[in-house]
Amino acid sequence: MKDILTAPFVVEMVRTTSNMYAHGWDERNGGNISLLLEESSVKEYLDITAVKRTIPTGFEAPALEGKYFLVTGTGKYFKNVEVAPAVNLGIVRLINQGRDAELLWGYEDGGQFTSEFPAHMMSHMARLAVDPKNHVVMHCHPANLLAMTYVHTLDERAFTRTLWQMCTECIVVFPDGVNVLPWMLCGTNEIGEATAEKMNTARLVVWAQHGIYGAGKDLDETFGLIETAEKAAEIYMKIAHLPLVNTITDEQMHQLEGRFSVKAREGYLD
Ligand code: 13P
Ligand code: ZN
Repeated sequence: MKDILTAPFVVEMVRTTSNMYAHGWDERNGGNISLLLEESSVKEYLDITAVKRTIPTGFEAPALEGKYFLVTGTGKYFKNVEVAPAVNLGIVRLINQGRDAELLWGYEDGGQFTSEFPAHMMSHMARLAVDPKNHVVMHCHPANLLAMTYVHTLDERAFTRTLWQMCTECIVVFPDGVNVLPWMLCGTNEIGEATAEKMNTARLVVWAQHGIYGAGKDLDETFGLIETAEKAAEIYMKIAHLPLVNTITDEQMHQLEGRFSVKAREGYLD
C-alpha cells in the first residue's frame, strides 16, 4: 500500500487549500472543498474494507451511493491543512443512498466533514448529471464578490453581465454566468437544495453576504473559475463609485464568443 500523503489527490488538495488561504478567501475555518475520487485510485492507498467510523449525513443522495470523496473537515482552518492533512481532511464513502458516510481516512481528532456537506453532495449530484467529468465542489469567502452582494442587484442576468464587463476573459471562462442565492441560513439541507438547483445551469453560485460556490473537473480549473470571477468583482468594487466612461459592449462580447468558440448564456447578451 502506498503512503496516502503522497497521493496526487491529497497533494493537490493541500496545495489548493494553502493557495486559497494565501488569497485571503478562507479566513479562520471559512470555506470547504469536496473532491470526487475514483475507487481504483483510493485502493492504491487505503484498505477500502477498513471503515473507521460511520457518520450520518442527514440527507439522501442516491446518485452518490458508493462514491468516494476527499473533504475538508468542519471547523478546520485551510491554513493548517498543509501541516496536518490527516486531521483537517477526510476520505469518506457514501452508503445507504447517501444517508451515511463511512470514514476511511482522516479527521483524526474525531472530527467530521464540513457543515456544508449537504450543499457539496447535492451540488455534485447536479453537476454530474450535466457533466460526468465534474469532480470538484469548492466554497470560499472572497472579499470582493461578497462586497458586491451588498451594493449590486442580485438579479442573475445583471450580476453576470456586470462581471463579464469587468474583464475581457470573463465571458470566455464562465459563459454560463453566475447564479445567485439570496441570504439563507448556511449549513442546512435547504441551502444545499437551493445551491444544487442553481448548479443545474451554472458552475458558479454566489451566496449573498456569505461567499461563492464553484464546480469543475479538477481543483485547478475550479480555483481558476472562482479566481476569475473574484478578479472581476474586485474591478467592479474599484470602479462602481466612479463615472463609467468605457465598457465592453455586447457587440464585443459576441466577437469573443466567435473567437473562443463559447456560447454566452441564452438571453444574457443583447
Ligand atoms: P465548515 O468549517 O463547517 O466547513 O464551515 C465553513 C463555512 O464556510 C461555512 O459556510
Ligand atoms: Zn462559508
